[in-house]
Amino acid sequence: MEIIISKDYDELSRTAAGIIRDQVTAKPNSVLGLATGGTPIGTYKELIRMHEKEGLDFSKVTTFNLDEYVGLEPTHEQSYHYFMHENLFNHINVNPENIHVPSGVASDFESYCRSYEEEIKGAGGIDLQLLGIGSDGHIAFNEPGTSLASRTHIETLDELTIKDNARFFDKPKDVPRFAITMGVGTILDVKAILLIANGEKKADVVATFIEGPITSQVTSSALQLHPCVTVVLDEPAASRLKRLDYYKWAYANKPKLAK
Ligand code: F6R
Repeated sequence: MEIIISKDYDELSRTAAGIIRDQVTAKPNSVLGLATGGTPIGTYKELIRMHEKEGLDFSKVTTFNLDEYVGLEPTHEQSYHYFMHENLFNHINVNPENIHVPSGVASDFESYCRSYEEEIKGAGGIDLQLLGIGSDGHIAFNEPGTSLASRTHIETLDELTIKDNARFFDKPKDVPRFAITMGVGTILDVKAILLIANGEKKADVVATFIEGPITSQVTSSALQLHPCVTVVLDEPAASRLKRLDYYKWAYANKPKLAK
């Protein structure tokens, strides 16, 4: 895992967007895996700026989102479909036909989950997957106890996730109890992973998934098994890493080693 520590959220967002820009520039028809939530909003703002001011071209890009609340129509303001259009898709030149956000209102979820996996495979697999991390260590909506080999499935949300996400809804009881989500196995199949986390609130879980044991109780810990993971943190989120100085040194000296 490569750990990059940014001084604050703005720098984190610029660094993360820069990694995505490099991917899209190197391979214009990249398949990007995308996340919702509070953390990536700054990254998406920076990508929009790069599109508007620097001509970053998304016309050949394909996207797959990680998850969606079960029961919310795409037009619902709290649906992840709506979020992605508001915060990114409406402001860049991605082809609407290449956008994939799982449906929260499929009539047969079992076959829909299988078809989502097939669509990812059909697109050639995901080149770069953007991830956030939940307070309980989840990636996508893979809550504690989810199999580390899981594929796209319906997940029952943990109480902590419901509490965390209540901030986006009028009332806590409006937060859906179920979500459709890529599985941990689906995520481990991608070519490269970019996980971002900010704020002191994430410091414990960040230290646990990077430096703790691999366990289905912290599904993000499975990323230790992936050969190409970059984690971009701000200082507060990185503050409980035991080997913080080592990560900083390793990153700062990387260009020298490459010579
Ligand atoms: C969202 C997702 C979740 C979030 C996580 C962190 O698509 O998959 O795993 O990344 O819950 O959310 P924030 O960024 O709001 O702290």
